[in-house]
Amino acid sequence: MNAFRGKRFVLGVTGGVAAYKTAELSRLLAKAGAEVDVVLTEAGSRFVGAVTFQALTGHPVWQSLWDDRIGNGMAHIELSRGAAALLVAPATADFLARLAHGLADDLLTTLCLARDCPLLVAPAMNRQMWENPATQRNVVQLRADGISILGPATGEQACGEYGIGRMLEAPELFDELHAFLQPKVLAGKRVLLTAGPTFEPLDPVRGLTNSSSGKMGFALARACVEAGAEVTLVAGPVTLATPHSVCRIDVRTALQMREATLQNLPGQDVFIGVAAVADYRPRSVEAHKIKKSAGPRALELVANPDILAEVAARNDAPFCVGFAAESQDLEKHAEAKRIGKKLDLVVGNLIQDGLGSDTNRITLFAADGAHPLLPADKAELARQIVAFLAARMEKSRA
Ligand code: PMT
Repeated sequence: MNAFRGKRFVLGVTGGVAAYKTAELSRLLAKAGAEVDVVLTEAGSRFVGAVTFQALTGHPVWQSLWDDRIGNGMAHIELSRGAAALLVAPATADFLARLAHGLADDLLTTLCLARDCPLLVAPAMNRQMWENPATQRNVVQLRADGISILGPATGEQACGEYGIGRMLEAPELFDELHAFLQPKVLAGKRVLLTAGPTFEPLDPVRGLTNSSSGKMGFALARACVEAGAEVTLVAGPVTLATPHSVCRIDVRTALQMREATLQNLPGQDVFIGVAAVADYRPRSVEAHKIKKSAGPRALELVANPDILAEVAARNDAPFCVGFAAESQDLEKHAEAKRIGKKLDLVVGNLIQDGLGSDTNRITLFAADGAHPLLPADKAELARQIVAFLAARMEKSRA
């Protein structure tokens, strides 16, 4: 599913060195099938010329309030009509200030004021300019006006200093736009997820674990945020970056995962168990490193609690989604889990398809049968799972 195909975006470019990233963004959008109109300020054109944007987007660039290429001579009105979004990147401190105060003295500011589509800005400036109380006041005002602020990021700056103020990279802005386009099917909902493996210690250096990377669970957490939910993610030991706006709680063992889950359960509308929780843990954990000895050594294991089953059995259980990772007979085992644990939905996958990889092949098992999805990357599948579960929640409320 390509969220960009057939959509039109207006990219506003103000005077910052990060304008070169916007050139790349315009290329990414055009490649994804979007139409892109670029509005370049006088200062912006000092960093990247109109010819570059024209070549990358295949459209003439807009620079003047007095441009008469639009029939009625009103580019500042017409350009935003029918656009999916207007993104200003880079947005300088000066531009943010003028926007916050409703100034309209060039094509871009006039267009922003007269827009008929959502407005997003990607600030880019020196860290002290960003942290300046005047800029921060303007940002608060812009947010209150319903304008989305993307970034800025922290890192090395064009001026040689280090800190917050860098514009997001082109692929990050592309992802942000993609997220922005997702239907808000979980708006107002709270979602709790588990993800990754657990680690069950044997001694201070060793333990039992598995090769879940957390990618599927983190992709789902992100998809839930994109769909408008407030998301809490209980993560086993993985090294993935926390998706934007997700409240992350790191745990190590199954018992810690259970405790964090139960603590955060009140008020949740959805619980999704993506974690590959160890079914067993060593009966005891040695205080010191176990020494090598001749001959075999037995390991006594005790069962871990089943977090998902425990949540789903509660009288106040939220909408419960489980995963089933199998090496064979997917349908049989996934259905047994759905019925046995009293789940609203089970996402079934074969470990050879999904464990550790960036892609997966899944089937959704619900009361009305099996719904296979086409193989895809985990981000795309996560969006499809969210769409499915939101529709089911809606149906069960009706
Ligand atoms: O992390 P990745 O590398 O991206 O891989 C993704 C994945 C393959 C781990 C994921 O797609 C997946 O299938 N997760 C569930 C793995 C699993 O342990 O399934 P299970 O069949 O053992 O457990 C069934 C369900 O009960 C799961 O929702 C699990 O989270 C839950 N469970 C299991 C045991 C337990 N003690 N507590 C639980 O909550």
